[in-house]
Amino acid sequence: MYFNNAEEKFNNLVKNYKTKDILILGIESSCDETSIAVVKNGREVLSNVIASQIEIHKRFGGVVPEVASRNHLMAIDNVLTEALEKANVTLKDIDAIAVTYGAGLMGALMVGVTYAKSLAFSLNIPLIKVNHIKGHISANYIATPTLTPPYIALIVSGGHTAIVKVADYVNNVLIGSTVDDAVGEAYDKVAKVLGLGYPGGPIIDKTAKEGTANIKFVKSDALKNSFNFSYSGLKTAVINYLHNLEQHGENPDVKNVCASFQNEAVGVLVEKSIKACKKFKFKKLAVAGGVAANSYLRSELKKAGEENGIEVLFPPMVLCTDNAAMIAAEGYFNLISGCGLANTELTATPNLNLKYVVKK
Ligand code: KG4
Ligand code: ZN
Repeated sequence: MYFNNAEEKFNNLVKNYKTKDILILGIESSCDETSIAVVKNGREVLSNVIASQIEIHKRFGGVVPEVASRNHLMAIDNVLTEALEKANVTLKDIDAIAVTYGAGLMGALMVGVTYAKSLAFSLNIPLIKVNHIKGHISANYIATPTLTPPYIALIVSGGHTAIVKVADYVNNVLIGSTVDDAVGEAYDKVAKVLGLGYPGGPIIDKTAKEGTANIKFVKSDALKNSFNFSYSGLKTAVINYLHNLEQHGENPDVKNVCASFQNEAVGVLVEKSIKACKKFKFKKLAVAGGVAANSYLRSELKKAGEENGIEVLFPPMVLCTDNAAMIAAEGYFNLISGCGLANTELTATPNLNLKYVVKK
């Protein structure tokens, strides 16, 4: 069942989007950021308020799901008020709501989904369901207003590592993905064993700058000729290296361990994504997800892009990690493609996959 006459309103928006401005309120609560944004026509951010819980989870060494849900609940009302104020709009100006319904933590997602359903119902406007990972890709439409599909996307987050062909605004074709851990997960695990704290990615990024990549971690050649990735072997190689030193009563040079790990973790991303662009004859590579904030990945990809005549696009830092502006953007591009209208049965879907080829 659809909310009141939301379906009719949705169809009207789809019909008239070329001549009418569309304001979408995006809601994101899949992990440890409560975020609400107002985005015009999928590309213009009027506000993007992010309440981060990083400080709260830091002392536990990672995100505690129950704590995350409670904090989303406590924050979400204020985040909405601030997002509307900053955008200088009221709820009456909003044409549709877009919400992340997966993938992510069950309880955390439920807060956003329930909140979005209640808002859409009370305002009698369409609700659009958004896949979090596709939202990360859509951050690029905000950052690069001229970007249109098709192009190659490199997705690098805490849960995903993949190269996809973005065929149009709703359909993706998978080229390669991780066969085990995601790259962000490897960063977080390595930071943990080094005692560097949470979240590991930004700390390793910073620490690696002061080190030299002079340690060779053993890696397998099994995936050498494919576009797939494996990060569990690299992670284990770092752990084994540290155990070995410990058994000999030696201390690791943490800066060099970080630089060496990062060199290998990033090297394979650069090599395979550029190779994919060349093989499938694309001149544009858009990077998405939390690890896209990594400074070494940014500089190495930029360099490789220049050498190979490929334009490499990165969203600004604030649009790389979790935020609701990217969710509103993804909601918009679903809407104008006539996709994503949610009904009253929408539920949080923790294991939602990036559907690589979806039919309209
Ligand atoms: O996309 P995201 O915010 O959440 C997920 O959807 O997973 O990504 C979070 C991941 C974490 O693993 C975090 O350590 C990593 O992104 N990350 C980074 C950096 N900033 C965040 N990894 C490497 N370098 C960074 N600067
Ligand atoms: Zn994310």
